[in-house]
Amino acid sequence: MFEHIQAAPADPILGLNDAYKKDSNPNKINLGVGVYKDEQGNTPILKAVKQAEERLLTQETTKSYLSIEGAPAYRSAVQTLLFGKDHPIITKQLAQTAHTPGGTGALRVAAEFIKKHLPEATIWVSNPTWANHQSVFQSVGLEVGSYAYYNADNKSLDFEALLASLSQVPEGDVVLFHGCCHNPTGIDPTPEQWYQLAKLCSKQGFLPLFDFAYQGFGQGLQEDAQGLRTFLEHVPEMLIASSFSKNFGLYNERVGALTILCETAEQAETAFTQIKRCIRTNYSNPPSHGSAVVAEILNDPELFALWESEVKAMRTRIHEMRSLFVNTLRIKGVSQDFSFISQQQGMFSFSGLTPDQVAQLRKEFGIYIVGSGRISVAGMTHDNMEPLCDAIANILKG
Ligand code: LMR
Repeated sequence: MFEHIQAAPADPILGLNDAYKKDSNPNKINLGVGVYKDEQGNTPILKAVKQAEERLLTQETTKSYLSIEGAPAYRSAVQTLLFGKDHPIITKQLAQTAHTPGGTGALRVAAEFIKKHLPEATIWVSNPTWANHQSVFQSVGLEVGSYAYYNADNKSLDFEALLASLSQVPEGDVVLFHGCCHNPTGIDPTPEQWYQLAKLCSKQGFLPLFDFAYQGFGQGLQEDAQGLRTFLEHVPEMLIASSFSKNFGLYNERVGALTILCETAEQAETAFTQIKRCIRTNYSNPPSHGSAVVAEILNDPELFALWESEVKAMRTRIHEMRSLFVNTLRIKGVSQDFSFISQQQGMFSFSGLTPDQVAQLRKEFGIYIVGSGRISVAGMTHDNMEPLCDAIANILKG
């Protein structure tokens, strides 16, 4: 029965992580998967998370099922984080939010919802984009197209080409935007560019799908929502996939959300019944623990302040690593200009290293980088910076 089945290729990000774990090189460095590391190279549990968990441990009274859409305290807290406190979208109940297992879960539910209710829609993703985006959408049979985003020559956003691409997207199609900290390039539109994109979206009539996985890792929790909030002023309908893996460090708890914004509260309520249907036939209802932690933190001013300071500390450390990386490469005699890395945002940088150079770094030095040349800056520390830059200098000179 199963003898005809061919092996699937390893996942470009999580497969690389598995290979890293198996590598016996004591000096190996993991700059593959987007997971935050502290100066000791550990992925810590945030203090705010630990404190929330302690409370939950004493207060929790049942392990009974959550409803299909998740817990009310979580769902409303997610909306406040996205839209801002008491935003008219919230008071007018124009949006509905479902707790999903991670941001990927949200994208998958969105994909099924789009396939079922907008079956003719093509979904457009940036070139390049997160390595899993195309597969998630293709797995439900959606057509996936790509729009121009990155100028490899000057390592910047090719905004003219981006506008030209999106001007070709017809009404009724779906366009995926990275809410902040674009994965993999680390390059986001400026506030003025977000404004132009929102106007274009309104003119063309395509549906924006925001993938919002790094809120707080760019400039700050509110600052990073600026692109999304600019769209809200111009576009009445939207889908938003949230992830709390990174900003709460809750990677293995799988905490995410899918939010649908409609023109009226009635439409939102009706459309949400169909989202719930997609969930019920998929994983039935979400796991509780991670969302309870997030709700406890977001709904308590003291825990919120602690969490915000911890997000800031993670963000600041990554910014410091960016500058240190650029400076250390210079000190090691690398003549290529890597200064663009200190301008980029979030966990990732698109280094410009070729697939051959990436393979060489792995084989000769045990340094793991995604094949596209995407580097997780969040994996750099003061300790691994010297060997990392020595290795890169070595292969660039070779
Ligand atoms: C990444 O891009 O490395 C993360 O989002 C982890 C993942 O699931 O790929």
